Amino acid sequence: MQFNLVATDPQSKARAGVVQTDHGAIETPIFMPVGTAGTVKAVHQRELKEDIKAEIILGNTYHLYLRPGLDILEQAGGLHKFNGWDRPILTDSGGYQVFSLAGTRKIKEEGVKFKSHIDGSTLNFTPENVMDTQRTIGADIIMAFDECTPYPCDYTYAKQSMERTHRWLQRCVDRFDSTEPKYGYNQTLFPIVQGSTYKDLRIQSAETIASFGREGNAIGGLSVGEPAEMMYEMTEVVCDILPKDKPRYLMGVGTPANILENIALGVDMFDCVLPTRNARNGMLFTTQGIVNIKNKKWADDFSPIDAELGGYVSTFYTKAYLRHLIHSTEYLAGQIASVHNLTFFLWLVKQARQQILNGTFRDWKDMMVKKLMTRL
Ligand code: GUN
Repeated sequence: MQFNLVATDPQSKARAGVVQTDHGAIETPIFMPVGTAGTVKAVHQRELKEDIKAEIILGNTYHLYLRPGLDILEQAGGLHKFNGWDRPILTDSGGYQVFSLAGTRKIKEEGVKFKSHIDGSTLNFTPENVMDTQRTIGADIIMAFDECTPYPCDYTYAKQSMERTHRWLQRCVDRFDSTEPKYGYNQTLFPIVQGSTYKDLRIQSAETIASFGREGNAIGGLSVGEPAEMMYEMTEVVCDILPKDKPRYLMGVGTPANILENIALGVDMFDCVLPTRNARNGMLFTTQGIVNIKNKKWADDFSPIDAELGGYVSTFYTKAYLRHLIHSTEYLAGQIASVHNLTFFLWLVKQARQQILNGTFRDWKDMMVKKLMTRL
């Protein structure tokens, strides 16, 4: 993997770059749609490529390991072959899901023992086997096994957990560097900065993570309930330490405003379930602001979902029709709303990139943040 920095904004820390993988290039800043179980929920690969213009999608080690399992994935020739997505894939390590989804779990130095949310069976994730699993899934970018601490988190626990995450990282690196990709293309490992909402821990973690000298770095443990200002404070501290010549990925973030503010602080990559999860509940992100399509006011609004955004579903279908579909619990509602929201998120980061290239990002960002937070 290679990263080329193309431009930096003169009035903020925003950057535009290109990440090159064996499955193609990713222009940053980028938003990565979440495809937890090998599918971006309710969205075809053709729509992802042609309508949404996604450049990279996510998969989750935790879900894919449980179902379909490594046997099937290996027989398929990896996740790209299995789901037909031939552009880059990033897999999260399970570090997050083990803590958010699994029932009872025990964290030890060796790893995490937990119960599957599917059949209750007992499983063990260790830094070593999580590297092996992600090798088998075949993601282009794989994530270190970490602990995502909750918010709030007391200082003593945050410190202990961060130090364990660092020790786990060494084990991830040792395993990753002593194994080979399975399907003939390169894979790269991103370590994850932790440290909860404590500046001194974030500094310590960012310095440790940077010292590993990997090809890209991630920031975890944010957007877990802390105020947005606190998240920005942590992102800024960390981005100022992480190397400039490597991509920076902020995990699990966020709203359109969160994304723009973090781009301004030097983040290059984002993922979040927000556009797809909220789409299924009728929340639309548009170029004019936020729309709750379930509201009565849209019942007879026969204008397109978002004429300014463009794209097939956003101009073809009307607000009134989508509202009808949602109220009728039709499958098509989730499909249209998901494609629309993802098209919007990819449009947003593409606009941000263009503004960075033009040297006009900061003023545009300030204007957009206000506009995008408006509830229509
Ligand atoms: N997704 C969102 N936050 C995190 C995190 O802290 N760690 C991991 N592994 N995934 C995440």
